[in-house]
Amino acid sequence: MLLDNNTEALAKAEAKLAERYGRDVVRSCVCDVTSEEKVRDSFAAVAREFGGLDILIANAGIASSAPIEETTIELWRKNYDVLVEGYFLASRAAFPLLKLQKGGSIIFIGSKNALAATPNASAYASAKAAALHLARCLALEGAEAGIRVNVVNPDAVIRGSHIWDGDWRQERASAYGIDAGDELEEFYRKRSMLKRSVLPEDVAEAVYYFASDASAKSTIRQNPERWQRSVVHAVGRLPASTQTGTGQEEAQ
Ligand SMILES: NC(=O)c1ccc[n+]([C@@H]2O[C@H](COP(=O)([O-])OP(=O)(O)OC[C@H]3O[C@@H](n4cnc5c(N)ncnc54)[C@H](O)[C@@H]3O)[C@@H](O)[C@H]2O)c1
Repeated sequence: MLLDNNTEALAKAEAKLAERYGRDVVRSCVCDVTSEEKVRDSFAAVAREFGGLDILIANAGIASSAPIEETTIELWRKNYDVLVEGYFLASRAAFPLLKLQKGGSIIFIGSKNALAATPNASAYASAKAAALHLARCLALEGAEAGIRVNVVNPDAVIRGSHIWDGDWRQERASAYGIDAGDELEEFYRKRSMLKRSVLPEDVAEAVYYFASDASAKSTIRQNPERWQRSVVHAVGRLPASTQTGTGQEEAQ
């Protein structure tokens, strides 16, 4: 079941998956994750269409960049509404369904900004950090019911991202004093430890790992320092580029 508030993007994604895997296995629901009612109705539709829920991937996202003095209350709230409240509402709706099935996997798409500070993006980065801690709380609460909760923290997935088509691209380039064209992707590639660009498929591989039984013994640890090591360990079998930003502590 695909959920998104962008009707056009949703229809395209559904058509693509249906063509590849068959109409029977794909459904979609227009849903704004900041709406309690829409999230509730969407999860009811999941249960109706598929008879339950095994995996929740909370991925809906926006990004914004502004120095703190220019961060309006609207901008601040928008980030927290989508990236924190949206993930809370989806997880809360998922819990009873997963409990009925005696477990399941919740995966948040976080960001390296949840772990390392970044210039001129306090609303976005602190919202990602809040979502990360929400995941820790849910891991603790869900463990007894067999609900695993993990977070993938990518850095600069430029290709295929609508976020990077918008203002974020220009704002990031200006925060680092570089050109917003091809130089941008090179800048992020070079600053990664392994000098490789992170691609959407790298993130998908990490998500697949946490969704599958290969990670049946992985859920977020509660001690942040030890947790960082556990995440790096957990994604150790994946393409190395997926690890970018998971354990780096200096500001980037
Ligand atoms: N691209 C990157 O560099 C990068 C890096 C780290 C983390 N992330 C995270 O990855 C996730 C996916 O981002 P992306 O780069 O693919 O961007 P994207 O814009 O291509 O995808 C985000 C999707 O979320 C949807 N969305 C936004 N607000 C919503 C809402 N209120 N309700 C329902 N859906 C909503 C959008 O319509 C869009 O389809 C986000 O959470 C983002 O913060 C991205």
